[in-house]
Amino acid sequence: MTGKGGTGKTTVAAALSLALASEGRRVLLVEVEERQGIAQLFETEALPYQERKIASAPGGGEVHALAIDAELAMLDYLDMFYKLGRAGRALKKLGAIDFATTVAPGLRDVLLTGKVCEAVRRKDKAGWPVYDAVVLDAPPTGRITRFLNVNDEVAGLARMGPIHNQAQTVMRVMKSPQTAVHLVTLLEEMPVQETMDGVAELRSAGLPVGAVIVNMVRPVLLEDAALAQVTDLPAGGSGGGVGKRRTAVAKALSQAGLGGARRGGVAERLVDPLLTQAYEHAERVVLEREQRAEIGGLGLPVRELELIGEGVDLGGLYRLADSLRKQAVPGFGGAFAKDGARGKSAAHPDEDTDDADVDGPDAGGTAADAEGDGPDADRAAADADAHPDEDADTGDEV
Ligand SMILES: Nc1ncnc2c1ncn2[C@@H]1O[C@H](COP(=O)(O)OP(=O)(O)O)[C@@H](O)[C@H]1O
Ligand SMILES: [Mg+2]
Repeated sequence: MTGKGGTGKTTVAAALSLALASEGRRVLLVEVEERQGIAQLFETEALPYQERKIASAPGGGEVHALAIDAELAMLDYLDMFYKLGRAGRALKKLGAIDFATTVAPGLRDVLLTGKVCEAVRRKDKAGWPVYDAVVLDAPPTGRITRFLNVNDEVAGLARMGPIHNQAQTVMRVMKSPQTAVHLVTLLEEMPVQETMDGVAELRSAGLPVGAVIVNMVRPVLLEDAALAQVTDLPAGGSGGGVGKRRTAVAKALSQAGLGGARRGGVAERLVDPLLTQAYEHAERVVLEREQRAEIGGLGLPVRELELIGEGVDLGGLYRLADSLRKQAVPGFGGAFAKDGARGKSAAHPDEDTDDADVDGPDAGGTAADAEGDGPDADRAAADADAHPDEDADTGDEV
């Protein structure tokens, strides 16, 4: 999940995790940026660098969360490649890791993406994926492509050997249909522009783009005819037709019991402030329509989440999750996508044991929302059938 900062990236990632966790699924929600945004949202104590269950979803599913610490991920990495458990700790003392994590931001991204990919690929003893889906609260739109693609550079630098193989594994996951990069935006010029640019960048890097989630959508309070009337009635205007309409509004207000419609009467004094509000509302609606049209031009599935007036608490989060579930977001997995990755890949869990890659604690890649293929993929498909209303709008499925 990416998006311009402040558009609700963390909130939507969390809502998506809850939505995906319904019907008994197990989802991992990962944070790599600002620490503890997830803990705050779920109203739990700070997350350690350890996966832990933070929420239950309706129907028995679970959301687990992980806040990845780049420094600890580095120790994992060293441990894995060089069996440097103790030497790694010595390095830490020397400040080498400080250097690596702060001075080489590219390296930091390699570690973070590696950890996420490891979670995506992790299997239990029977060979089934541990998580049905992994949702990443990823870096913002401006940095997302570089972040997800960092292993491409690494694979180019290390031409062979375990690091090369590891980087290639990560890129394979990132570019596979297992991954979908979703973009959160508001119906405002700047975030929409960032979304357009972000999608273009992701596409040219060959990264799979998922859906655009328009967040904090406010209701339209006036019908089209009223909107048109308001917009050609400039606030504070008078004379001619405008004057007549102002009088009509004052009369209507008076009839509604708001006082006298005469000049200086209560109803008459309400006309200007109300018209100003209506005008501003209409202006916003027109602007939002333009932004919607821009987004529509991307040819991606678009979903909308309402603005929750009182702010997003835990209850609000479940409401947003419910809304996502009802909108049957394509590529969001399981019952959300009848022809999605899960349905298609109900293959044997060991199908990829033949790759020679290193699969250590950090063997993974970055996935902005990668779904595991699992023993219950068939069940998910069955679920989709059991809820025909949930995938009614399959017209724009990817
Ligand atoms: N649909 C929504 N309705 C109301 N408030 C929202 C909604 N989505 C996000 N917010 C609020 O917007 C603020 C920014 O959200 P956050 O998820 O932290 O954004 P980001 O991760 O993109 O910086 C938070 O205060 C959050 O509660
Ligand atoms: Mg955030």
